[in-house]
Amino acid sequence: MTAAYTLGSLLYEGKAKRVFQTDRPELVAVEFKDDATAFNALKKAQLAGKGELNCQISARLFELLEREGVPTHYLGLQGRSWQVVKPVSIVPVEVVIRNVAAGSLCKQMPIAAGTPLEPPLLDLYYKDDAYGDPLLTDARLARLGLLNADQRAELERLAFRVNAVLRAFFAAIGLQLVDFKIELGFTAAGELVVADEISPDTCRLWDLQVADASDRILDKDRFRQDLGGVVEAYGEVLKRVQGACPEPRIYG
Ligand code: TMP
Ligand code: ASP
Repeated sequence: MTAAYTLGSLLYEGKAKRVFQTDRPELVAVEFKDDATAFNALKKAQLAGKGELNCQISARLFELLEREGVPTHYLGLQGRSWQVVKPVSIVPVEVVIRNVAAGSLCKQMPIAAGTPLEPPLLDLYYKDDAYGDPLLTDARLARLGLLNADQRAELERLAFRVNAVLRAFFAAIGLQLVDFKIELGFTAAGELVVADEISPDTCRLWDLQVADASDRILDKDRFRQDLGGVVEAYGEVLKRVQGACPEPRIYG
């Protein structure tokens, strides 16, 4: 089989991925790295196999969202730790939805960890490591001028749809979707789509069959809290996701 595209220069390197141009302007290639970071990269490690696991989990979740009518940047897999995606202009806003209180919410608010949040809570953060990804207010978001009112409404609508789809999917494979972060971007055609990745790096996932508050964690909190078994936990997530999803398509 001839390659569908030729890899071009590095466009962007983030903490967990590299994004490459290709010889086709409508395609970019994303490589998932084994690097793990937390606390704005104050804590760093190499976790062999993490990139591949996140790539494989994310591909299946993007295809699930697509089947449910949620537009994403994803086009297909290319090898174990690469994806082909549409180029998008990322909105520098991290969109977090919380179904259960955990993490920063419990550090900043008098809400006990594990408290169910119904309706789910949506928090927007300004995506800029130099500022430490601060929580946005409506007024600050408007002042930054990143989104007009319709785009903001669409971003929130998509985020809640993602939550509804993923929450039900994970529950069916014995995982509680505690919270997650997504990033969205505009395609060349001006469509707002889910981009970046959806993986145990960007979701909190608790094993519904396990009662112990540490043992049940199957996400990046294992790394943040030095619980060990990070790659093994991500492997368990992939195993369950694989069991419930068709094989993802290979691009080209
Ligand atoms: P938080 O409790 O630290 O605010 O995190 C909320 C969710 O967002 C959690 O699922 C982890 C995810 N997240 C990221 O994907 N990237 C980040 O930089 C941060 C801070 C959180
Ligand atoms: N991804 C962020 C960082 O590197 C934070 C986190 O996920 O905890 O530093």
